[in-house]
Amino acid sequence: MIITIDGPAGAGKSTVGRELSRRLGFRFFESGSAYRALACEVKNRKIDPANRESVCRLIPFLDFFHPRPEFYLPEIGELASLLSAVPEVRKGLLQSQQKLAEGGDLVTEGRDMGSVVFPGAEHKFFLDASLSERAQRRHQELAEKGKGLKPEEVEAEISARDTRDRSRKASPLVVPAGAIVIDTTGLGIGEVVETLLRHITKGSEKRHGFPNRHSRESGNPGK
Ligand code: DC
Repeated sequence: MIITIDGPAGAGKSTVGRELSRRLGFRFFESGSAYRALACEVKNRKIDPANRESVCRLIPFLDFFHPRPEFYLPEIGELASLLSAVPEVRKGLLQSQQKLAEGGDLVTEGRDMGSVVFPGAEHKFFLDASLSERAQRRHQELAEKGKGLKPEEVEAEISARDTRDRSRKASPLVVPAGAIVIDTTGLGIGEVVETLLRHITKGSEKRHGFPNRHSRESGNPGK
């Protein structure tokens, strides 16, 4: 089973996705780490981001399954967003992402997981929240990692990134066909995870006529 979670920066996709995968016993993949890994290599090797050929040459050697702390720097997010608008980059990363499905059950999050990478996913979600709340969450996350950015700097950064991610030609951020949209403004992580689990259980009941055997939603919070 594949479950996709798409949405703009700071909507809670990673935290919710990680917890959901833990509850279901599925693997979890943050697709942003592929673009962030590429951005790190481009920066460290001082490659001109506009040089598509040199940028794409790095793709086969990327390790995006072991995110490093530098992946989460705002400047890396910005460069990742810039590179992710390049069609050759998206094409180069598509196959390795799709290969993940071969390993079995998966929860994955990003910008085009339900629309392009796994259009046939059993369950698709789109998480959103107000810009100010998304900026606040991201600011807190960065503060916990010791990055002292001002709240207004974080808001400007994610706002610019969203605009670019939504307006690019290659696989823009969209609500995938068949996705359930959840506005997480004012909701805690636990509430969002429970909501997703309810939809997954309901969807599986409809599809197969019996409850999803993976769901541990009711009365079993421990696992
Ligand atoms: O989710 P994130 O903040 O780690 O993603 C960083 C950037 O990578 C994001 O601004 C756009 C790009 N990205 C993408 O284009 N498609 C995805 N599926 C995931 C991320």
